[in-house]
Amino acid sequence: MSTKKTSTVAIVMGSDSDLPVMQSCIDQLKDFGISPVVRIISAHRTPDIAADFADNALKNGIKVIIAAAGMAAHLAGALAGRTQLPIIGVPLQASSGPCGLDALLSTVQMPPGVPVASMAIGKAGAKNAAIFTVQILSLSDQDLSEKLTQFREAQTQMVIDKDSKLQ
Ligand code: RP5
Repeated sequence: MSTKKTSTVAIVMGSDSDLPVMQSCIDQLKDFGISPVVRIISAHRTPDIAADFADNALKNGIKVIIAAAGMAAHLAGALAGRTQLPIIGVPLQASSGPCGLDALLSTVQMPPGVPVASMAIGKAGAKNAAIFTVQILSLSDQDLSEKLTQFREAQTQMVIDKDSKLQ
């Protein structure tokens, strides 16, 4: 099976229950003008589809894969084992699981040779996955690089404004 939409960025998540948190990743990418391919694929429940997705991602034009999962979060690692594309992992707190540390350790503790760039747990990680993706793509995209500079400047100004209001 191939990805249905064309994009340079794919967001893959283990369950539709992950979508409310991952929406901030989708929104952040869209703010930078990137419409990602978004898929629900599970390393455990749909392992063949996960393998097929990873095997075909590069030839489908994907440059960065963001993989989010909760509990025993093997999705990012399973994809990383099958593609040389950069994989950004987002560990999530599952509704029926503990605080997300389970997913963090499952995502971050990759064996040497097969890295996953793990973000923080939950919404902060979801947002940072989008920004980290933009940082990678902006190395070869001047327009994106300028948007990133503006984003960082606006973020800095926002903190300065908040401080000023307190004085
Ligand atoms: C993981 O199991 C998913 O990424 C999700 O975070 C968690 C629970 O999945 P559901 O039971 O909500 O579908 O694979």
